[in-house]
Amino acid sequence: MTAISATPRARRTGRRWVVRALLALLVVALAGVGALALTWARASTDTTGQVAFDRPLAIPPLAPSRIENGTRVFDLRATTGTTDFGVGDGATRTWGFNGAYLGPTLRAERGEQVRIDVANDLPEMTTVHWHGHELPAAMDGGPHQEIPPGQTWSPSWTVDQPAATTWYHPHPHGATADQVVRGMAGMFILDDDTSRTLDLPDDYGVDDVPVVVQDQAFDGDGQFRLAEHPFSPVGHLGDTILANGTVGGYHEVTTERIRLRLLNASPSRVYDFGFDDGREFALVGTDGGLLPAPHRTDAVRLSPGERAEIVVALDPAERVVLRSNAPDLGADPWTGRFAGGDDRFDILQLRAADTLTASPEVPATLAEAPGLDPADAVATRQFRFSGVSINGQRMDMARIDEAVLADTTELWEIETSDGAPHNFHVHGARFTVLDIDGDTPGPELSGWKDTVYLAPATTTRILVHFTDHADPDLPFMIHCHLLRHEDRGMMAQFVVLNPGQEPGHVPATHHHVSAPRGAR
Ligand code: C2O
Ligand code: CU
Ligand code: CU
Repeated sequence: MTAISATPRARRTGRRWVVRALLALLVVALAGVGALALTWARASTDTTGQVAFDRPLAIPPLAPSRIENGTRVFDLRATTGTTDFGVGDGATRTWGFNGAYLGPTLRAERGEQVRIDVANDLPEMTTVHWHGHELPAAMDGGPHQEIPPGQTWSPSWTVDQPAATTWYHPHPHGATADQVVRGMAGMFILDDDTSRTLDLPDDYGVDDVPVVVQDQAFDGDGQFRLAEHPFSPVGHLGDTILANGTVGGYHEVTTERIRLRLLNASPSRVYDFGFDDGREFALVGTDGGLLPAPHRTDAVRLSPGERAEIVVALDPAERVVLRSNAPDLGADPWTGRFAGGDDRFDILQLRAADTLTASPEVPATLAEAPGLDPADAVATRQFRFSGVSINGQRMDMARIDEAVLADTTELWEIETSDGAPHNFHVHGARFTVLDIDGDTPGPELSGWKDTVYLAPATTTRILVHFTDHADPDLPFMIHCHLLRHEDRGMMAQFVVLNPGQEPGHVPATHHHVSAPRGAR
């Protein structure tokens, strides 16, 4: 009623006020949209077509070893140093094994007894974990096997698993991302009779090439920094890709086919590897070894910790670039973008010589199929991955979360429920993927795995086979291999028991590092 009785002038003033308020709102909204658009635009990186490829790809040296009383012995020394990546004008402070950055490639044969003498010359405690190995928990190098500064740790075990591309890296509780990003990682290749007799490229560093892929961020002084966007659901995402520590590397190819052993040693980034011309290649191996048969594809997605062995054919004198296309994370567009889901990178260039040595065709059959049967599962367990916890709990070094029986198979159901990307890794065991949301996975998941990507709001069912390395007191780890999640507590512990055994008590550790986090 008041509006009807108001004078025309008052009505005009009222209208002007409304218009002004709307304009102000519009300005605020536009500024907000602008800021948001800028944030959105800056949240993704695309280096395709922009990398110079002017440095030869570094090849990690094969670690020398010696035989002592029938045991193959390696020496690893964790050390600090500086590395010139050709980024910025200073040398970058880095950490590595037997050198300033990354580590040598260890190589052993199935059936061999190995020992690695790991000396810690770092200013802080570390551990060295053999990711993908089946061994006693005391040799695993998880958070319980601490190596204080100045000390040497000498784990020893018999290699008894199929040929595979595995790796090693530190695992100190709460500081894994920090130490790995500083450069602590190396490859560990296992051979067996099958891998030795198959006609696959196997001349290390020539046509069988390790490719350790990391994403780094450099500050103005050329130093590494842990780049954590406030909206990132996964932690650090670097904008510079290193392959074996080389930024923009090229590799001279002298054979018709080359095998690349791809390792995602990045703390949080998921890659979708392929080539710049979209060519097909043969995926021949995954985490736990060779596939039953090669899988022809033009893309292979690897989340942190996963490996893939691929064989690609080249024509004389051509150049082809290994790149990572935008990985399908299965997340909503916002989460996906801030998790690196829209990022694209050129990683390294393969330069074929004018004449290439003949390589045999990729064999049509490779290794024995895993052949785990859900009917053999003696137990079913559920794991819910959410935030930085598993089944609502964060890691407790003193708590044993699960106990399994030696030499059995179990069905594990891993559910993600928080909208963020995660992945699943288990120590000291191998698994096969039974289904993802009820769907049988493709041939890329037809072999042994130890790490698998978990898209948001999915249930992944796996069949895990445990070895006979029982220990009631010392646990193995289950965790998200997105290292920020792991460091913040997305990790649980299980012991492997012999029949009749009960879970024991985890021996106390100091689990602290002396240097402040983030001081780099
Ligand atoms: Cu690659 Cu628990 O580690
Ligand atoms: Cu591991
Ligand atoms: Cu996670």
